[in-house]
Amino acid sequence: MIRLAFLGCGKIAKAHAKRLRKHKADVTVGFASRESVRADAFAKECGGTSFGTYEDALGSADVDAVAIVTPPDSHKDLALRALAAGKHVVLEKPPVPRAADFTPIAEAAAAAGKQVFVAENYQYKPLLRRIRGLLADGLIGDVLFVHVNAIKYQDGAKDWRASYGALYEGGIHWIDFMASLGLPVAAVRGHRPAPAVTPERSMMVSFEYGGGPVGVLSYSWEVPATAKGLRLSKIYGRAGSITFETNGLWVLLHGKKTRIYIPGLRDLAGYGAMWADFVQAWKTGKEPAMTLAQARKDLELVEEAYATAGVS
Ligand SMILES: NC(=O)c1ccc[n+]([C@@H]2O[C@H](COP(=O)([O-])OP(=O)(O)OC[C@H]3O[C@@H](n4cnc5c(N)ncnc54)[C@H](OP(=O)(O)O)[C@@H]3O)[C@@H](O)[C@H]2O)c1
Repeated sequence: MIRLAFLGCGKIAKAHAKRLRKHKADVTVGFASRESVRADAFAKECGGTSFGTYEDALGSADVDAVAIVTPPDSHKDLALRALAAGKHVVLEKPPVPRAADFTPIAEAAAAAGKQVFVAENYQYKPLLRRIRGLLADGLIGDVLFVHVNAIKYQDGAKDWRASYGALYEGGIHWIDFMASLGLPVAAVRGHRPAPAVTPERSMMVSFEYGGGPVGVLSYSWEVPATAKGLRLSKIYGRAGSITFETNGLWVLLHGKKTRIYIPGLRDLAGYGAMWADFVQAWKTGKEPAMTLAQARKDLELVEEAYATAGVS
């Protein structure tokens, strides 16, 4: 049994806690907040225990693991404190401020003999798994172009997100997607549309993949949504193409065969598969599919996109 405490009682903490009910034979949940009344309310609503402060959860002998679900600039410090206290760690995305922050975290995890997982659910999206399979089976032949349209409207000014770049805060999901198609990323370059707003709210990232394919990710929080945010993306190869609703509602293969797929409406975002994998990883001591190396690579790609686009 893993006794998991959420550090921070916000939106994603509640969503994850509710999803973890499916694993109640293996995981119990608790809640820690800067305001003890909030932790109590979460414990009441979601089921579980509450802690008066983050410190109380970190110091508790009744906690085996913490999920750090606070704004990103607090993640590194909380992860290091948790590992020093002998807890496993789940880090929400974006996992840390800088890719280099993974070095002290990996060292602390090794010293403590504890696991650190990054909750990058896009790694578990049924859409990604379907497309990766179609590409691996060669159903559109040699891949030429990957066009991912992840343009939407998100009010980034309302909460702590106001001070973070959109590609770093939200687009990192799609960076992970672009980097996990089974096509090795050789290089990326960022492009920022002008006139620019600060912090960055729209970015294009071009990809060069090993062996020749090229790709482009368009990511924005600035464009009012059409058709409830439905967007189309496309991968072109010499023997056909794959068209997909960007979030993964459906996939149309037109290549060596023609098929329409509904990859997984029940777990569109991949959270269910992610937690199942994390629970398994705690039980076996093995690394989950979303590895720390992949999480670090994703962040390095964001940093490279910003550096080449001149975003500081
Ligand atoms: N994987 C996904 O799909 C997904 C979706 C949404 C968010 N996220 C990530 O999850 C993390 C939390 O996001 P969220 O949407 O849950 O945010 P949120 O609703 O604002 O909750 C964040 C919580 O962090 C705590 N906190 C600690 N220091 C804070 C500060 N300086 N300002 C504001 N809150 C602070 C607060 O809890 P207490 O007051 O109780 O301590 C707050 O409720 C972020 O890293 C975000 O990128 C991931």
